[in-house]
Amino acid sequence: MHARPKYHVLICNGTKCNKIQDGVCYQKGSEDIISKFDKLIAEYNMSNEILVSSCGCFRNGITNKGPNMVIYPEEIWYSGVSIDDVDEIIEVHLKSGKIIERLLSK
Ligand code: FES
Repeated sequence: MHARPKYHVLICNGTKCNKIQDGVCYQKGSEDIISKFDKLIAEYNMSNEILVSSCGCFRNGITNKGPNMVIYPEEIWYSGVSIDDVDEIIEVHLKSGKIIERLLSK
């Protein structure tokens, strides 16, 4: 049983309702982003504090702004996330609790 995490990070993997993985998030590298989160969180020994889950298309107005993700418990949505943003999201948001304004979904 996984300990209750401090943060739950849901990252779209670009799979649509038709089960085809061709959404914007996938086309712009969501799989690599998810893998990098997994790798760094393991390296930082934070897997008890941060649970990363991949999910299908969020099916809301931000889908074309992907890659998209949402961080709970604050319910902070980030869009246009790139693999180069992963370190900053971990350092600034998940380690320091600060929101990264430039990535906020609009
Ligand atoms: S494909 Fe990622 S939110 Fe729709």
